[in-house]
Amino acid sequence: MSNLIKLLPDAVANQIAAGEVVQRPASVVKELLENAIDAGATEIQLIIKDAGKTLIQTIDNGCGMSETDARMCFERHATSKINETNDLFNLRTKGFRGEAMASIAAVAQVEMKTRLVEDEIGVKINIEGSSIKAQEPVQTSCGTTFSVKNLFFNVPARRNFLKSNPVEMKHIIDEFERVALTHPEIYFKLTSNGNSLFDLPIGSLRQRIIGVFGKNFNKKLVPIDEKTTIVNITGFIGKPEFSRKTRGEQFFFVNKRFIKSGYLHYAIMKAYEDLIPKQTYPSYFIYMEVEPSTIDINIHPTKTEIKFEDERSIYAIINSAVKQSIGKHQMAPSLDFEAETSFNVDPVKAGDEIKMPQIRVNENFNPFETKEKSGGSNGRITKKDSTFELPKCDVDQQQALTSLYHDNNLITITDEDEEEDDQQAIVEVDVTRKIFQLHSRYIFSQIKSGYILIDQHKAHERILYEQFLETLGAKKATSQQQLFPVKLEFSSSDFAILTEIWDEVKLIGFDIEKFGNTAIAVNGVPADLRQTDIPGLFDKIIEQFKNNRDELKLDTTDSIARAMARSMAIKAGKKLSENEMTLLTDQLFACESPYFAPNGKKTIVTVTLDELEKLFN
Ligand SMILES: Nc1ncnc2c1ncn2[C@@H]1O[C@H](COP(=O)(O)OP(=O)(O)OP(=O)(O)O)[C@@H](O)[C@H]1O
Ligand SMILES: [Mg+2]
Repeated sequence: MSNLIKLLPDAVANQIAAGEVVQRPASVVKELLENAIDAGATEIQLIIKDAGKTLIQTIDNGCGMSETDARMCFERHATSKINETNDLFNLRTKGFRGEAMASIAAVAQVEMKTRLVEDEIGVKINIEGSSIKAQEPVQTSCGTTFSVKNLFFNVPARRNFLKSNPVEMKHIIDEFERVALTHPEIYFKLTSNGNSLFDLPIGSLRQRIIGVFGKNFNKKLVPIDEKTTIVNITGFIGKPEFSRKTRGEQFFFVNKRFIKSGYLHYAIMKAYEDLIPKQTYPSYFIYMEVEPSTIDINIHPTKTEIKFEDERSIYAIINSAVKQSIGKHQMAPSLDFEAETSFNVDPVKAGDEIKMPQIRVNENFNPFETKEKSGGSNGRITKKDSTFELPKCDVDQQQALTSLYHDNNLITITDEDEEEDDQQAIVEVDVTRKIFQLHSRYIFSQIKSGYILIDQHKAHERILYEQFLETLGAKKATSQQQLFPVKLEFSSSDFAILTEIWDEVKLIGFDIEKFGNTAIAVNGVPADLRQTDIPGLFDKIIEQFKNNRDELKLDTTDSIARAMARSMAIKAGKKLSENEMTLLTDQLFACESPYFAPNGKKTIVTVTLDELEKLFN
């Protein structure tokens, strides 16, 4: 039998190996930026076209390469950064494998121009699918320019697998941000399709973070600083009250390299425990410096996972450093969970102990008396000495009971104890109505067979969601012009998301226009929008959209309709007039699925008289 095994041609072997290093345009961006930093550049420009599918270009003012090195750099395992195995344990550079250029050149059309400071003339090399097409002298400034065109031109399967431009661009921005955050001492600029997205002058770390994420970040940051023999930690953490529902701005860097670590993330989350609502995440920018010999970077092709010699100690040090920073800046007391409206507060959870509301029986109540005569300032009548407690039961039952007492004009209930314990089921009753609001949160309405409770926020979310889906389908929203246009500034990554949902946001009735690189002017808002906090609203829409898209994997229209409904729906805590309550109830029942909010939670709870009756047995 003849021999079957043969060596793969270089070009094929390179393509296969490239799969590890170059997964998408963002991987090329990362490798090129890192090479420019290793070359000692103080100015790096990144130019992108079509989310990197057509062009990824870096221009650096680093050390450049000689003619021989220019040729060599495309060879596999060719590196100027290490010489022997021991160097691997003392890495100070980002690169060390000598693989990135070979991998990129295997799957794209690359042009490189480079010049050493001491040379008068540089060299230009064109290489495509691992084969050199041209090499010639060139006039060029010192440093190196890489142009990577038509990525995966020779691997159609991979090209077809690339995601939409906004998604690929988001990955590029992520990589760019990570590198820019690591090196505030380097000037970075990112241009995409001719628009400048980032222009980051050299400055302090705080200035760099603000440059990347926007001016709003200034007030959110608290410094962290801890020096130990194992690790030195510097950077910033976010104040707890600015924690968000999406895991956005969380960064670990080790020896100036961005890394991911679920374990160390947990150390931080533990430090914030009890200070932030569940399922929200704080921002952090943690920079660790360790002895290079105590880490192993070579365990993952993208170098974003590393092994620490003493991970447990680092965990403990980070945890305590974060706690200290939080404490030092006395951030905890300023927390006001009720004021934060971007998350759903469920006041009583299964298993929580429920305290009984205090019910005061009004023996003298006369329904025909006017408010003034009854002596209560707002129609409530209390008599402190005749107080009794309800039997132990759950909240639904409590509410059922209290409304029953009320229906029989036996009682009115005050909310005097509200400040003392917000877990109490506090009921506000207007004795003349059959529809009223409980705790500024639920709408109580008597029906023939008993009563219903409507969660006002969830109900409004359902109503808006269906309206938005319809508007987005029919493309016919009306907009109400603002007297003064509102100007809003975004971080580049938030702006990229806004660009992604631009058409839909307009369709829903926002009259917006781009204004500079990452700002917009809001000239009009949807005709029935009650909210006045337009900047807050946009932040929430972007935040919710990210959440829906990343975590629930919804399609764009659905994500947007949900995000807008969630952000614009009236919140728990908002007092409603009787007319508003009636309108909301009517609109809810006109919905296709009135009983559930878009996220599947109940909007309405019904309690029948039979069920009430059973409570007395
Ligand atoms: N922008 C640049 N300026 C100067 N030299 C460069 C530049 N980019 C690459 N080089 C040279 O080309 C060599 C090969 O680069 P390549 O990225 O393939 O490998 P590496 O950076 O050494 O290791 P890694 O594969 O881990 O990135 C580098 O070692 C460096 O000498
Ligand atoms: Mg490299």
